[in-house]
Amino acid sequence: MTAPPDSPDSRDSLSREDPAPFYDRHVFVCTNERPAGHPRGCCSGKGSVRLRDYMKARAKELGLAGVRINSAGCLDRCELGPTMVIYPEGVWYRCATREDVDRVLEAHVRDGGRVADLMLRPGDDPEKKK
Ligand code: FES
Repeated sequence: MTAPPDSPDSRDSLSREDPAPFYDRHVFVCTNERPAGHPRGCCSGKGSVRLRDYMKARAKELGLAGVRINSAGCLDRCELGPTMVIYPEGVWYRCATREDVDRVLEAHVRDGGRVADLMLRPGDDPEKKK
């Protein structure tokens, strides 16, 4: 029996009959843009477009096979941005600098580890992530 898709156990409910993921790691970088002064802000306004471009270029330089870096619309964690999420793990990060991107690319995307201090968790307080 599998857990409902929105339950906390849903990640444990992957079926053996599911097809293998198409990419080993699929990264979605929010590049949503809002007008200046919007109360939620936006990832684009915090540099996410250039960080996505950098991430794509670095992934290529590192020769990472089976990896796709995509732009995403709003991921709805705007106040914590710039945000990205990596599948199939579903791990979220706040990457605000090129150095952050390098760390996530090398430790998580390439090596399968985690970058705990950049990770976003459910219930994170935006005021503590600035
Ligand atoms: S604008 Fe990036 S998560 Fe909403």
